[in-house]
Amino acid sequence: TEIEARVRAIAAELAPLEGPLLPILHAVQAACGHVPAAALPVIADVLNLSRAEVYGVMSFYHDFRAEPAGRKVLKICRAEACQAMGADAVAARALAALGVDWHGTTADGAVTLEPVYCLGLCACAPAAMIDGRVVGRVDDARLDALIDEVLA
Ligand code: FES
Repeated sequence: TEIEARVRAIAAELAPLEGPLLPILHAVQAACGHVPAAALPVIADVLNLSRAEVYGVMSFYHDFRAEPAGRKVLKICRAEACQAMGADAVAARALAALGVDWHGTTADGAVTLEPVYCLGLCACAPAAMIDGRVVGRVDDARLDALIDEVLA
């Protein structure tokens, strides 16, 4: 398929790097918007790894997504400093408002909700990120405004 050919070209180009798997996964995600299931056997073949090894590395890193993302991506920080400042409640509110699970995308494709582990904004915890823009001190009102924004 076209995807497989694209992935094979990316993998072949980056294979000579030391530790090529992560750069290849990043490049595939940049090119395709996600790392499709069909990419894994191709990458495994080029690098002489098992599919399980490729899958294991991909699923270990939260940055890689197996499905295309929504038009916007909302990330909620789940790491310690934010947890201490009420991030669990923020997360629960976001999950309920969007009706998705982590990494899930709303049915209309508007938004994908992802956990993230520290945005470097601990001093303004709890923190979130919307399409690369960080937002601090996320309380109920601020979260609701973010949700309105992603669903608009
Ligand atoms: Fe959430 Fe650092 S722990 S920004």
